Amino acid sequence: MTHQSLGVCYYPEHWPETYWRDDAEKMALLGIKFVRIGEFAWSRLEPAPGQYDFDWLARALNILSEAGLKVVLGTPTATPPKWLIARLPDMIPIDGHGRPRNFGSRRHYCFSHAAYVQECARIVTKIAESFGEHPGVAAWQTDNEYGCHDTVESYSPAAREAFQRWCARKYQTISALNQAWGNVFWSMELSDFNEIDLPNLTVTEANPSHLLDFQRFSSDQVVQFNRIQAEIIRSLSPGRPIIHNFMGAFTAFDHFKLSLDLDIASWDSYPLGFLERSAHDPDFKNYYMRIGDPDFQAFHHDLYRGCGRGRWWVMEQQPGAVNWAPWNPTPSPGAVRLWTHEAFACGAETVSYFRWRQAPFAQEQMHEGLLLPDSSPNQAFHEVAQVSHELTIINAEVATKRAPIALVFDYESDWAWKIEPQGQDFSYFELVQRFYSCLRKLGLSIDIIPPDAQAAADREVIFAPGLFHASEDFTHAIKQSQAFFVAGPRTGSKTKNFHIPENLPPGALQQLLDISIPRVESLRPGTEISFSNGGKFKKWREFLKLGDHAEVILSSIDDEAAFVRCGKSFYLAGWPDETLLLELIQSVLSHTSIERLALPDDIRVRDNGATRYFFNYGQNTVNIEQLIGNATILIGGSQLEPYGVTIIRLS
Ligand code: GAL
Repeated sequence: MTHQSLGVCYYPEHWPETYWRDDAEKMALLGIKFVRIGEFAWSRLEPAPGQYDFDWLARALNILSEAGLKVVLGTPTATPPKWLIARLPDMIPIDGHGRPRNFGSRRHYCFSHAAYVQECARIVTKIAESFGEHPGVAAWQTDNEYGCHDTVESYSPAAREAFQRWCARKYQTISALNQAWGNVFWSMELSDFNEIDLPNLTVTEANPSHLLDFQRFSSDQVVQFNRIQAEIIRSLSPGRPIIHNFMGAFTAFDHFKLSLDLDIASWDSYPLGFLERSAHDPDFKNYYMRIGDPDFQAFHHDLYRGCGRGRWWVMEQQPGAVNWAPWNPTPSPGAVRLWTHEAFACGAETVSYFRWRQAPFAQEQMHEGLLLPDSSPNQAFHEVAQVSHELTIINAEVATKRAPIALVFDYESDWAWKIEPQGQDFSYFELVQRFYSCLRKLGLSIDIIPPDAQAAADREVIFAPGLFHASEDFTHAIKQSQAFFVAGPRTGSKTKNFHIPENLPPGALQQLLDISIPRVESLRPGTEISFSNGGKFKKWREFLKLGDHAEVILSSIDDEAAFVRCGKSFYLAGWPDETLLLELIQSVLSHTSIERLALPDDIRVRDNGATRYFFNYGQNTVNIEQLIGNATILIGGSQLEPYGVTIIRLS
């Protein structure tokens, strides 16, 4: 069993060597167990082609190990050095407008550039040969935040050729591709795979099937890039877990697929930066500006726990103001503590802070760390000290169970609805998050799963809003399972090739749902479809044609079927507001024995095994005595103060 632990991101190459020992000892005293290093250090590891300088890294590793710390060693491939760009000038990515993305920051590489991929394999091999068996190296991180700064897609000549090969492998004949893409439309037919262009710089919108395949291809390139590193590390450093740090609100490649080559998934959690960047309205942003969206972090914890098949970390936890959002407020006192415990509540093995000491130079000098640039402790340092002490009291193992409720998240659906939103504010990511928030407001622990049979097995309820294509396999798995299934809006409305299904939406799901959907409409802001309970459809609604076996549970005021049931399956014909969605979820859950909690606003709850965590995301103290009952209190109390945490052990 794994115990919960803390970590920190550290850049020895940014500081005089005389600092290192003192830093390491301070980290150990603080209760830090893991230190991630090395992920941007290529120019120091190989200052000139083939001229390696690993001695400093060996010294840093030794100092950290001597202090009792374990190292997560990063591969430096997110920051190729200048000499490499000079040798391979065409390795830089090209953006959708055809412009080069030059050296001078990071991630200036194209995933499809074969010679760059080889260079990566070379440096990773060298590092793994040198440090793979080092007793201080406990784990590896591949690259850093694949796709950060919009770098998954590249429109370079290398990408074009690789895409042509990918299409040839997939379709075998050009006529099969023409058929799959519907290229007869607008005379887009091709006679050879080498005629395929990338879907940018077209006069008007490119063909959605072409765009979707390009996104699948781009995603596969990232998966392949990571796999090459993972295989090298696995052979030279056996037994050490391989991790990658994913991002928040980022979907440009399929994280479920990439994670199959990882041992542990992780993500970088910046609650205030993400809130500032989100589409929430100004009132919401103002209210939560120092704590973040109450459901955003947990959504990602649950998503990446799913990607990691149970094993996951927070690799970078926000410790103070960041530098990259439109506005960068400081967290309220207690926020860093709350975020840390919430990750553990969702089953994290390790929460690691970004970064140890604030850099006084270069791009991120306004980004806070646990220490100020002069090495004195910043606010988060004291909160980490508190958490570190609290972990000894909680003494919990990582113990999340398979949740009875599963929410499907599908990367291809996000790509599909970005390609064809139909209403400009239709966002798949937002739709799934709305479902997630409502489930969480009912105090439920949720698993986020890909649309596959194995993940769907042994659930009581499965929600699959907006799933663009329901495969035969997935449909079959749902049919076989005992679970209640809730689909819509837009679920099953396209084939894999991005066509309207022959039998009309919801396509294969008509095996479960005796309905078809002849028409849909999108709704501009300010227009909505009303319900007698005060709920509304916004953004989107569908008109259903009902078969004999469809039972209407709810209709809109204009008398259209809005929520229907066929046996254990339900279909929702629009984008529900919170009032409506909460009511519909409750009505489905009332058929199960799943425990729901009456949570006050801003209170969230999560179980890790027998340890139950309560979090207050609001600005008022809340009495949670009733929710605690007679369980043993480990941390906090029944008066849950603003941004406070109460942790109990269930009997
Ligand atoms: C992450 C990245 C780090 C650092 C951090 C700043 O996206 O992995 O290297 O840039 O953001 O918040």
